[in-house]
Amino acid sequence: MTADSDAITASQEAAKRNLWLHFTRMSAYADGDVPVIVRGSGPYVFDQHGKRYLDGLAGLFVSQVGHGRTELAEAAARQAGELAYFPLWSYAHPKAIELAARLADLAPGDLNRVFFTTSGSEAVESAWKLAKQYFKLTGEPGRYKVLSRELAYHGTSMGALAVTGLADIKGPFEPMTPGGVRVPNTNFYRAPGFVHDDLDAFGQWAADEIERAILREGPASVAAVYLEPVQNSGGCFPPPPGYFQRVREICDTYGVLLVSDEVICAFGRLGYYFGSERYGYQPDIITFAKGVTSGYSPLGGMMVRDELMEPFTEGTATFLHGITFAGHPVSTAVALANLDVFEKENLLENVRTNEAAFRATLEKLLDLPIVGDIRGAGYFYGIELVKDKDSRETFNDDESERLLRGFLSGALFEAGLVCRADDRGDPVIQLSPPLICGQEHFDEMEHILREVLTEAWKRV
Ligand SMILES: Cc1ncc(COP(=O)(O)O)c(C=O)c1O
Repeated sequence: MTADSDAITASQEAAKRNLWLHFTRMSAYADGDVPVIVRGSGPYVFDQHGKRYLDGLAGLFVSQVGHGRTELAEAAARQAGELAYFPLWSYAHPKAIELAARLADLAPGDLNRVFFTTSGSEAVESAWKLAKQYFKLTGEPGRYKVLSRELAYHGTSMGALAVTGLADIKGPFEPMTPGGVRVPNTNFYRAPGFVHDDLDAFGQWAADEIERAILREGPASVAAVYLEPVQNSGGCFPPPPGYFQRVREICDTYGVLLVSDEVICAFGRLGYYFGSERYGYQPDIITFAKGVTSGYSPLGGMMVRDELMEPFTEGTATFLHGITFAGHPVSTAVALANLDVFEKENLLENVRTNEAAFRATLEKLLDLPIVGDIRGAGYFYGIELVKDKDSRETFNDDESERLLRGFLSGALFEAGLVCRADDRGDPVIQLSPPLICGQEHFDEMEHILREVLTEAWKRV
């Protein structure tokens, strides 16, 4: 054994003995290696053995500018040398101020106030806590419920979990924080029969379901509705035309806050700084995380309209909420450097210019019998897998288990592609590559997917 292989063996043993991977069946690694990623460069990452993978998921919808960017690493080191930490509790620091102002400039409308967090779940919870306290301060103390869509993922901490629409990941943690209410999502491929061939009518129906839910729950009890611009979980559901305009109208009618959860969809994923910009609606709150730093340091937050801040600007009123590491100096410095890269390299333009080619390349896969639907926007796509294309019949639980967990996840990785095979709704493969990608990377994704999905079909 060489020194290198000794080190790999030791690290594998320690990974299995001491590390707890998230949302991972640890038993899956009993007889095999834990995949260990050691470095990255551009849209590629490399494992312990030096094998290269195309990062088709940008880590976890995070690495917008790609891996190995020394300018971001240097910004982090400079800031750590100057001021590594100070809290935002009663104090400010220059990078938090600068980033808040820059984000306010970029965000649509009067979303001028930034409350930082360290993660997306904290951003989602912060928005709910703000909504509750805001309504208590403004004479509507009964408003505490939050609407969100079936299958939508909004995070895992107990508050965010109550907003999340995935029953399977909530079950073990019942009872939930009270107040979470579900409305339909915008999966047109699985639209109800009476609107299955009319996208506009489907969008209108899905938006109107939000109104019906508000009326059913009692408008005086509803605080907010949480929607992603393009819903991730379930496999990339873009909004039908007019959907968000109708939702905005409904929110205004009933005094409900519209929270645009852009933890994935902000910072270029859809070709704009914010997904709400792409679809032309004005949120009351935007939640963000992930791409704001491209993952070079953790950061999240919410952006809030002036009006929501007003009750907190006088007398003793205080938003009674805070997080030790929120708006960390190193993370905010990194976010500023990240935004500099966006500007210097025209990353939004890159996505807008190339997204049609990305879609067209993925759509070649529609000739495979297992590929039912390809949907998404920008650099964010879901591929829905089906057992029968004509009837759109999906796989049952056993088949999903064999296909996704038993074969596809491993085989795609083995073939050199990081992506996500997900069966929290119908089985889908999710793609969300770094925003620096171009045609050669689209082709590489398509080739690997074609090869592995062809093999998967033989096993159905
Ligand atoms: C839309 C959305 N909201 C919230 C979250 C939770 O973010 P985090 O994992 O940073 O807590 C996620 C994570 O993927 C997400 O996609």
